[in-house]
Amino acid sequence: MIEFTQSEFMVEIEVPEDELIISRTDLHGKIIYANETFCQISGYTQEELLGKPHSIVRHPDMPSAAFEDLWNTINKAGKQWKGIVKNLRKDGGFYWVEALVSGVYRSGKLVEYKSLRTPITYETKLKYQRLYDKMRDENGERVRKVIYT
Ligand SMILES: Cc1cc2nc3c(=O)[nH]c(=O)nc-3n(C[C@H](O)[C@H](O)[C@H](O)COP(=O)(O)O)c2cc1C
Repeated sequence: MIEFTQSEFMVEIEVPEDELIISRTDLHGKIIYANETFCQISGYTQEELLGKPHSIVRHPDMPSAAFEDLWNTINKAGKQWKGIVKNLRKDGGFYWVEALVSGVYRSGKLVEYKSLRTPITYETKLKYQRLYDKMRDENGERVRKVIYT
């Protein structure tokens, strides 16, 4: 028998072509700004997002190596990180984006981080789902399984 107790899980939300998902964090990765599109796509209200770590939208399919690379790039190297990210919605659904993450500097001093996200194609999603599955598998991280009971 197949049970759909969590039928909303695995439902994808498409990011509209003409929308930008924008957020800013403090230097510890806590959300200090989230635009309306970010709220709508992630399913959280602004109040729920502000002050929370950005990992609130981390999807378990994301390999930790991707975020190590992100933090090394924006923090240690002081450069912009560009990457493909699968994010988790509040209701258990997900959405894929291409993210541009970088530091915000005032008078040459790093004060916060910002991120802009745009939609990606179906082919790119497929490619990265496979790549991230492989990376998690090779690193002994959790691997997605579909279980029928
Ligand atoms: C500006 C900015 C935006 C970020 N956006 C995301 C995001 O959309 N999704 C995500 O999973 N992590 C994002 N991160 C990375 C998180 O801070 C965190 O490193 C990641 O979710 C892994 O969480 P963990 O190390 O607690 O497991 C962002 C970080 C910064 C600085």
